[in-house]
Amino acid sequence: MSAAPLIPPKPSLTSLREAARGCTACHLYELGTQTVFGEGRAHADLMLVGEQPGDREDVEGRPFVGPAGHLLDKALADAGITRAKVYLTNAVKHFKWKPAGKRRIHVRPDAYEVRACRPWLDAEIAVVRPRLVVALGATAAQALLGNDFRVTKDRGRVFDLPPRILATVHPSSVLRARTDEERAVAFDGLVADLRVAAREIAE
Ligand code: URA
Repeated sequence: MSAAPLIPPKPSLTSLREAARGCTACHLYELGTQTVFGEGRAHADLMLVGEQPGDREDVEGRPFVGPAGHLLDKALADAGITRAKVYLTNAVKHFKWKPAGKRRIHVRPDAYEVRACRPWLDAEIAVVRPRLVVALGATAAQALLGNDFRVTKDRGRVFDLPPRILATVHPSSVLRARTDEERAVAFDGLVADLRVAAREIAE
């Protein structure tokens, strides 16, 4: 299945968000509380694409409002990027999880789910027309740049597809670092890549 038949003709962000609310293109709608659609500036120069909403995002219905979102906010600020000026979204718009006691643990979406959800992301890119898309982590990077793309190898470089795309690590990977030192290095790397993005859209 694919979300393609659900894309409204001549879409706007409002009509897309409305249509995505009832998306059943893959089985994840049975797992998540709600569709978490992208949000932000309508014609943002910069679009950031994450993997999928997390537990907090699933509850609030907004992308990047949980721990990874807070870290991303800090990284954006350090890179001189104002969150209010970007458009934030995810490759997959429902939270995929499994139970662990009382908690809901993130499960990485598979290729089928990313593909089913892809028409929403394509439509967001077409409507927002960002000057640069930043893929956060491997799921978003591979959705946009192909399955062979390796963030470890090609992060921080701009690929002129169109759209222009730069991939970097996912903020959750910074949170998962084992030691404070590793976390600081990972955070600095994320900020450095976001600075490249900031320079790209300033030119
Ligand atoms: N991780 C993501 O990839 N996206 C979110 O919205 C939150 C956490």
